[in-house]
Amino acid sequence: MKYKRNIVITGGAGFIGSHVVRLFVNKYPEYHIINIDKLTYAGNLANLIDIENKSNYKFVKMDICDIDAFYRLMQEEHVDGIIHLAAESHVDRSIKEPFTFVRTNVIGTLSLLQAAKLCWESQSEKYEGKRFYHISTDEVYGALEMTHPEGIDSPFTTVASSGTRHEAYGEDFFLETTKYNPHSPYSASKASSDHFVRAFHDTYGMPTIVTNCSNNYGPYQFPEKLIPLFINNICHRKPLPVYGKGENVRDWLYVEDHARAIDLIFHKGKVAETYNIGGFNEWKNIDIVKLIIKTVDRFLGRPEGADLDLITYVTDRPGHDVRYAIDSRKLQIELGWEPLLQFEEGIEKTVKWYLENEAWMDNVTSGDYQAYYDNMYKNR
Ligand code: NAD
Ligand code: DAU
Repeated sequence: MKYKRNIVITGGAGFIGSHVVRLFVNKYPEYHIINIDKLTYAGNLANLIDIENKSNYKFVKMDICDIDAFYRLMQEEHVDGIIHLAAESHVDRSIKEPFTFVRTNVIGTLSLLQAAKLCWESQSEKYEGKRFYHISTDEVYGALEMTHPEGIDSPFTTVASSGTRHEAYGEDFFLETTKYNPHSPYSASKASSDHFVRAFHDTYGMPTIVTNCSNNYGPYQFPEKLIPLFINNICHRKPLPVYGKGENVRDWLYVEDHARAIDLIFHKGKVAETYNIGGFNEWKNIDIVKLIIKTVDRFLGRPEGADLDLITYVTDRPGHDVRYAIDSRKLQIELGWEPLLQFEEGIEKTVKWYLENEAWMDNVTSGDYQAYYDNMYKNR
């Protein structure tokens, strides 16, 4: 069958990638969606079990640093769109092994760019109808001060579901024009990859787009990240290691809201532009931890607050950014996107999902999924 578009999604077996793949495969039967993923510890094909047999979907196990393999795939599949999510994504790991982050996030992104350039420039229509969309993070902007519009207590929700919001922005939020100032090896590697993507537009005319999103949460997130780790630990009555005093602030977005933004921007976003994605939903870590405890305890029929004593304050993360907060008005005003899910509702949905998918969690925490797929792909 001839498809209307042939789109590569990198990192589609990971957390956000799997939601993007699922959305595109189901919403666009006229598109061929090719998920390329190396299946590192963070990649899990079980995240895509519900769509793996769809005729417009294909999985290819590939390292994004393998420029020759990617170039061949571009040619064979007539790829005209790339949505690039593959990355090493965990800050704590980047502190321990920064080279892995440079390899995948910087060299890997450059390899995709170079292969796409060679492929598209060899075609008569060149860059026409093509798109290279790079998914990045708000962490590239560095950290904000712990200041807030007056009268807003934690949780620092500055936009209501109705869309009304306080008009105190400026220095208080990350804008698309905020200067890059990354602090961790993870954010430094993502910042570098963002620069390469923009350089390929400015130097070669490649039609690129970059988006910088805030913290995501939801189903299929690897339990090294705050929310799934803590849900799992509460279930097993294990300590909850809160870094420092738990006062750092993050701006949380439900993963499906991010996937919808990616869909919109891939189709309607302007080439060479940057869009910030975030839900105006700031929370102190400690308040989230208490909300998760309350929600898990309620679902498990434990007395309210029964697990508060699991909170354990531990040594802070080195270079721990104090506060992130995204100003996503450009995306909201220019393209009409807005988050659909309120945080309390999103946490409820997320906790429920992890409790109902104990087998997924056990598989991931035991590492069994990796042995299974290593075996499956050994001889391919
Ligand atoms: P994740 O760690 O859950 O998934 C990453 C995926 O990339 C995995 O499937 C992994 O196997 C794959 N991968 C890693 N190295 C690879 C390589 N060399 N070749 C091919 N595949 C490889 O990450 P995530 O949280 O889903 O994040 C996805 C993207 O979104 C990343 O680029 C991240 O920087 C960005 N982002 C994440 C968040 C967040 O809160 N999670 C927020 C903003 C932006
Ligand atoms: O802001 C977007 C970024 O959000 C993404 O680019 C990253 O890929 C993603 O991992 C996330 O980074 P964070 O470092 O903010 O996420 P993490 O879940 O690791 O931590 C969230 C906050 O919770 C942070 O302030 C550190 C704290 N924390 C985290 C863990 C894992 C703890 O206090 N204890 C923990 O055990």
